[in-house]
Amino acid sequence: MDCNKRPENMQRITTIELANAFIDEQVELIRKQVGDKKVLLALSGGVDSSVVAALLIKAIGKQLVSVHVNHGLMRKGESEQVIEVFRNQLDANLVYIDATDRYLEKLKGVVAPETKRKIIGAEFIRIFEEEARKLEGIEFLAQGTIYPDIIESDGVKAHHNVGGLPEDLQFELVEPVKLLYKDEVRVVGYALGLPKAMVDRQPFPGPGLGVRCLGAITRDRLEALREADAILREEFDNCGLAKKVWQYFIAVPDMKSVGVKDGKRYEGWPAIIRAVNTIDAMSATVEEIPYEVLHKITDRITHEVEGINRVLYDLTPKPIGTIEWE
Ligand code: XMP
Repeated sequence: MDCNKRPENMQRITTIELANAFIDEQVELIRKQVGDKKVLLALSGGVDSSVVAALLIKAIGKQLVSVHVNHGLMRKGESEQVIEVFRNQLDANLVYIDATDRYLEKLKGVVAPETKRKIIGAEFIRIFEEEARKLEGIEFLAQGTIYPDIIESDGVKAHHNVGGLPEDLQFELVEPVKLLYKDEVRVVGYALGLPKAMVDRQPFPGPGLGVRCLGAITRDRLEALREADAILREEFDNCGLAKKVWQYFIAVPDMKSVGVKDGKRYEGWPAIIRAVNTIDAMSATVEEIPYEVLHKITDRITHEVEGINRVLYDLTPKPIGTIEWE
């Protein structure tokens, strides 16, 4: 039997009861596979790796070592949430690495989007490798591979999973959700008691805010982007759009325009709102955000975020625009 093929008769996990049955079965399988050995997991805080972490914690507790690398390109509050949920609430064996300085140093002056992506991906492997070498007795690597990753294998998520580790650092894989679709992973996440904000998270590119801070990344523009993005999310939560829109975020280009603040000339960057709906991310339509909401967001971002003096709304569907700006 091909263990990477979802059996025809496998029931779709749509209820907590079905999720609990899946969890019991996986806990059993994980214990059998791992025995008393240790497992390493790269915990990004995204839905898939979070669910895998929670599942493994249930199965083998502190034999799981989760490594969360904060590349400094996370959305506001996301690394804090990983620490709160996994270290404080689930008492996990969590290694937290703040690699912000290291990433920003490597990315200094780098403009080309694909180069930025490569640097971010390669640095992740390097940091993960360093941590893996520090730890003793690890024989397994857990990954949040899900079924679309297997059937599409189009490379979009390639850097999420820790492919690319050197030859002498190879582990046996533990991939408990690899036959599940995203909606099923979410139901399992709920059944495991993970917070809604974590389980319902929108898709977030592995390179994170790195591909939304357009052009060469600087600390101040990255910080402005993070704050503006947090305001957008807060306002979408307040007006109910958060539940409806598939993906929404801010991008900040590397250009300034003239504005006026407190009676003085104020040069600032524009914050560009992107809010799209899609089934498979191959094509996307733009959400019709009510003007009232747009005005509120504009007002808050221009008043609350240092360095931003305009707010624009991107009305371009995919195609011809991609969802991300780079
Ligand atoms: P585009 O911009 O190609 O994005 O229309 C389609 C979907 O993929 C996400 N995306 C990425 N996800 N690593 C990821 O894990 C990446 O490098 C990457 N680039 C784009 C994007 O957020 C959207 O959901």
